[in-house]
Amino acid sequence: MKVSIGSDHGGYELKLEVIEHLKKRGFEVTDVGTDSPASCDYPIYAKKVTEDIQSKNADLGILICGTGIGMSMAANKEPGIRAALCHDTFSAKATREHNDANILCMGARVVGPGLALMIIDTFLDTPFSNDERHIRRISMYS
Ligand code: RB5
Repeated sequence: MKVSIGSDHGGYELKLEVIEHLKKRGFEVTDVGTDSPASCDYPIYAKKVTEDIQSKNADLGILICGTGIGMSMAANKEPGIRAALCHDTFSAKATREHNDANILCMGARVVGPGLALMIIDTFLDTPFSNDERHIRRISMYS
């Protein structure tokens, strides 16, 4: 599976840990930046990850900023993107099963790295349910 990941300065350190974890797990990872802890604008990186999803350069995406909120707002403006802000494993599992979320957003100032990796693993390992009722509901907003 191919994963595109981006962050701003608030998520930069966590992004590095996530990339190392994902590579150990055998995922093909595209890191769209940011490339340093210097202050930057999160919508730039949200846009790059959404483009990777839209072009099918990635199957799923991960966006990390300080809260995850700005990233999720920016990503959800883009066609075909269903970005879910999750800080617990229940939501990460449910949003894949019910919403077929294609981007996970997280706040590095909200969760520690241990929980963040568990949430990411849950998100990436959970398939969409393909239930008719969920397909119908997603089609009402996608
Ligand atoms: C940057 O200071 C911060 O605003 C950003 O990381 C994010 O939390 C925005 O939603």
